[in-house]
This record gives sequence, structure tokens and C-alpha cells, in this order.
Amino acid sequence: MSLAEHNVTAPKTDEDAFKNDPNATLDGVHGHDVTAAAKALLKDSTTRGGGIQMQDVVKIYPGATKRALDDFNLDIKPGEMVVLLGGSGCGKSTALRSLAGLEDIQGGRILVGGQDVTGVPVNKRDMAMVFQAYSLFPHMTAVENVEFGLEVRGVGKAERRRIAMEQLELVGLKDQAGKYTQQMSGGQQQRVALARALAIKPRVLLLDEPLSALDAKVRVQLRDEIRRIQLNTGTTTVFVTHDQEEALAVADRVGVMNHGRIEQIAAPQDLYRRPATEYVATFIGLTNRLPGVSDGEEAVVFGQRVPLLPGSKKGDPVAVLVRPENIALARVDGTGAAGAAGAPATGERARVEVIHFLGAVARVDCVVSSDEFVHWNKGERLKVTVQLPANELPEGLAPGDEVVVTPRAVAALAC
Ligand SMILES: Nc1ncnc2c1ncn2[C@@H]1O[C@H](COP(=O)(O)OP(=O)(O)OP(=O)(O)O)[C@@H](O)[C@H]1O
Ligand SMILES: [Mg+2]
Repeated sequence: MSLAEHNVTAPKTDEDAFKNDPNATLDGVHGHDVTAAAKALLKDSTTRGGGIQMQDVVKIYPGATKRALDDFNLDIKPGEMVVLLGGSGCGKSTALRSLAGLEDIQGGRILVGGQDVTGVPVNKRDMAMVFQAYSLFPHMTAVENVEFGLEVRGVGKAERRRIAMEQLELVGLKDQAGKYTQQMSGGQQQRVALARALAIKPRVLLLDEPLSALDAKVRVQLRDEIRRIQLNTGTTTVFVTHDQEEALAVADRVGVMNHGRIEQIAAPQDLYRRPATEYVATFIGLTNRLPGVSDGEEAVVFGQRVPLLPGSKKGDPVAVLVRPENIALARVDGTGAAGAAGAPATGERARVEVIHFLGAVARVDCVVSSDEFVHWNKGERLKVTVQLPANELPEGLAPGDEVVVTPRAVAALAC
């Protein structure tokens, strides 16, 4: 009996959708059926995979006026790790669930390994899928849950116990191995599910905010572990998160989503250094919005020439998006002249408001002294955030001190 023969109804709610995850479906089945169905699923996991294409996908939830996915396009290479990043409600989970077949779509098509799987139900879709949450076997202990996939793959008893314990240790649950998952907290269950997903090393891994319930340290540990395993096994992975640091840290490419589509997809460094839109620039990392004059190729900001990124707007004034580390800061001495070391000839006077010492780096929030930009800045005095290595912070700099802030000649986006 194959997994495909189990009846799976169309998902009505998020929770139903997760219940329709094949792992969850196995929950309601007993004895040999469980093993046979799981074997079918896991056999798929090892023989399928490959690239993924989502082309002009449209998703409209029943009764909704807005499209949750609006001509959504995504092309993932075999073995690639793509992270979908974006604010709450932008359609990340919908994109993942549509890809998995947990949502029907109203337009476009989805290809997995070159095969069109559009309209193919979740249980018949020829793609390996492992969801990490809400799909544990409640009548099994944590370690048995993690072992399950290994068992049906024919991994020997001692070896699967060893791997399962290793995975549980990784997620910080080694001491809970013998506990039934229904007696565990949501966060603990999520960790068991993640351990189980990782233990079987699937070819395609779909993860929807898998680390959100974990504390900061475990989160970083696990995120790095997921990436290591992904690289070692060549698992095509789609990872959904709203945490930009997490996205930048693990992805081959990050797709920034906005209003049901990907606004830009690029390698983390490219995305950070060469954002295509204001939304992307402001979503990834910090950025200053400074007034400038632009001819489309170059802008003058605070008297300093700044080269512009492709797609930059021409105009006077425009907003030039300058990262905090791309602004130099120099102290002004008591007489009003620029301070000694490396004092810039150009730049704008500002007063230090707050200094955030962050260990290796320091971030200095300044308020521009001149009221020249107040009108441009919608009635507010212009603020500039500067980031610099902590050891380059001028000695004794304190709130209230006067400084000069100058953009560096690093490509920026004008909009
Ligand atoms: N079952 C549903 N029925 C109706 N509308 C839905 C349903 N699920 C999601 N939506 C809507 O579709 C849009 C996209 O939702 P989705 O869950 O994909 O967002 P998300 O990016 O995953 O957000 P989050 O970061 O909060 O998880 C939202 O406007 C949401 O309100
Ligand atoms: Mg979501």
C-alpha cells in the first residue's frame, strides 16, 4: 500500500493542512499500514528531489479579496537552499504550502524535478517533503519519533538509537528522550519534529519557521546544523523565516517577499550590498534615508559624491539609502572646526543622541543640527545612524557631542 492510497482531504485550515502532511496522516493508521505508507513516503524522499519551479502562481484564499500569492515566481536549483524572508502576512507559508501541495492554487504552475505537479494532491505529489511541526506520533516517545524514519529505512537498532540520541542532544532534548511527545510543550515538540526531519536526511526539506520556538543559543546552533547537513547531503531546501539574520546566515539565496511575490532574490551579500528596491534595503539590515541630488548614476549627499546602484532614481531631492557602516563620523572640537584625525572636508554637522556599544561594533545615533532637511523629512529633524568598529569610536564620545557625518563612496540606492 502506498501513501498515495491514504485518503487525504483538502486542507481547510492551517491546522488541517498540517494534519494532511503525510507524516501526520500516518498518525491515524496502525500497524503494517503505518510502516508501508511511511516506506513509500521515504522511498520517494530518496529517489525524488531536484529543482523546483513555481511559475506565476496565484493563491486566493476562499472569501479573500487579496491574493496571498500574486504571480509568484521561484526557481530553485537542485541542492540549493533558498530562504523566503518577509514580514508577517506576506505569503511565505502560503508559498511553502502551495509548493507542498497543501494548498490548491488558482493560477500558474509548479514543477518539481522538471515534472508538472500542479493540481496533484499532496499525497500523490512526487516530491519529498518533511514538515517539522505538529506531525509527531503521540503514542511514541521522543526518541522513537526520531528513530521512526530511520527504522523504515532499514537502519539497524543500535545505529538508529545512536543517531536519534545525537539529534535529540542537538536540539537540547537528550534528557527528554523517553517522554511521550504529547506530554511535551509546543516548543519541545517542535524540536523533536526538527530532530526527526534532520535524522532521515531527506532530499527536499521544507521548513516553516522551524527555529522560532527555540532560545537564541540553540537557535544559532541548530540553524548552523541544518545548513551543514543540507550542504553535506545536497538537500534542496526551502526555509521560511522572518528573521533576517537567520536568512542571511544559512541561505544560498534569499528571496525577499512582499505582497505575495518575491521582490528580489539573490545571494545574501548581493542582497545586502545591492538591494533593488527600498523595501528590500530596509528589510535587510539597517539603512539611513538621506536627502540627495541624483543624476541616476551618482548622487551628492551632505556634499559627498556617492555612486548609485542600478535602478536608482534621478531627481532633486531623492532619498539615498546609506548603510550605517558606510557613514564616517568625526568629532568636532570646541572651536567648531572639524577634529584632528581624518576630519572630513565634506559632511553634515550632527549631535550625538545615543551610543549603543555592541561589543565588536558601536552604533551611534545622531541628530543633524541644521533644520535644512526638516521639511524633506516630514517635519522631523533628520537622524543619522553610524556604525563603526568599537575601537574606532572617538575616545570619550558622549551624547550631546557635536560630530560631522559623511557618507562614504560606496554604491547606494536612490529612490
Ligand atoms: N487559511 C487562510 N484563509 C484565508 N486567508 C489566509 C489563510 N492563510 C493565510 N491567509 C492570508 O494570506 C496572506 C498570507 O499568509 P501567510 O500565512 O502565507 O503569511 P506569512 O508570510 O507566512 O506570515 P507569518 O510570518 O505571519 O507566518 C495573509 O494575508 C493571511 O491573512
Ligand atoms: Mg507563516
